Amino acid sequence: PPGGRVFSGIQPTGVPHLGNYLGALESWVSLQSQYPSVLYSIVDLHSITQPQDPALLRLNILDMAASLLACGIDPETSILFQQSQVSEHTELSWILGCLTSMPRLRHLPQWKMKSKQKNEGSVGLYTYPVLQAADILLYKSTHVPVGEDQIQHLELAQDLARIFNNTFGELFPEPRALLSSTRKVKSLRDPSSKMSKSDPQKMATINLTDSPDDISLKIRRAVTDFTSEVTFDPEARPGVSNLVLMHASLAGCSVEEVVGQAKGLDTGKYKQLVVEAVVQALTPIREEIDRLREDRGHLESILARGAVRARELAAPVLKEVRHRVGF
Ligand code: ADP
Ligand code: NA
Repeated sequence: PPGGRVFSGIQPTGVPHLGNYLGALESWVSLQSQYPSVLYSIVDLHSITQPQDPALLRLNILDMAASLLACGIDPETSILFQQSQVSEHTELSWILGCLTSMPRLRHLPQWKMKSKQKNEGSVGLYTYPVLQAADILLYKSTHVPVGEDQIQHLELAQDLARIFNNTFGELFPEPRALLSSTRKVKSLRDPSSKMSKSDPQKMATINLTDSPDDISLKIRRAVTDFTSEVTFDPEARPGVSNLVLMHASLAGCSVEEVVGQAKGLDTGKYKQLVVEAVVQALTPIREEIDRLREDRGHLESILARGAVRARELAAPVLKEVRHRVGF
């Protein structure tokens, strides 16, 4: 498509956390006005690569839809849809899987991390990056916002575009990464690791639906260090630097400006400013999520409409793929 097409996906893991917001969703929102065609998918097929509770998955899909809308994804401008409602994803994934060798997948991060945790893994977990490649190529996407942790998976999508084109004739553009400029948001309890929904320590992660009291408590308990002055030095002072970075990102100002505002405050007093910045940024989002969650039918109809529009783009591509392959 002229001007480019953006595709990205997020697993329906329930309400996102502040790391997801600053690392991914905030840029998803701004890409809507930068590209003529934008698709965002709630990738539920990816969620069943590990055991799932069906009732919880169903709830998480709607919570993620509500969250994306509340963050500013506009379902008119963008195509917002649930991956499993567009069965073309699965079919293209099978075809691309037949163009992928087993060793090509073995060293990819998702498999290495998650299969090791359990000492085994499903075939679906192993071929997860192939499905991801299908998600992207199905729409002839040209630009893919990704975190650094996903670069190797995007490289597989690029390889598969090339392999398909070489084998069956030019069809897919090679998708390019749009790397998020935000640094990783760190765990509030262990600033050497990233903020993550899978962190077992509840106080380590700020969720978009956290109340002002939750936010205040978590930030007051955030691990800093024994220096009382506020400076930005992510290597030597990861804890306080993480607060400064969160603060600057949410307030829309530079790290230097935040450090300037904190002059003369010790880290304990400074945390109050961080609380205010986080509460101010997240309150409208939390209120909108709460409002949208009330109307399940409305969320379902947005996703149904998104699936229709996604399929309008996907069907002709898959038809051409099938023809090239010999079906
Ligand atoms: P989690 O690590 O909580 O499981 P995901 O892996 O589902 O989060 O990530 C979804 C998106 O959010 C990805 O684009 C990822 O790069 C981004 N992301 C996740 N955690 C962070 C973080 N702590 N800081 C910045 N971005 C993050
Ligand atoms: Na993850």
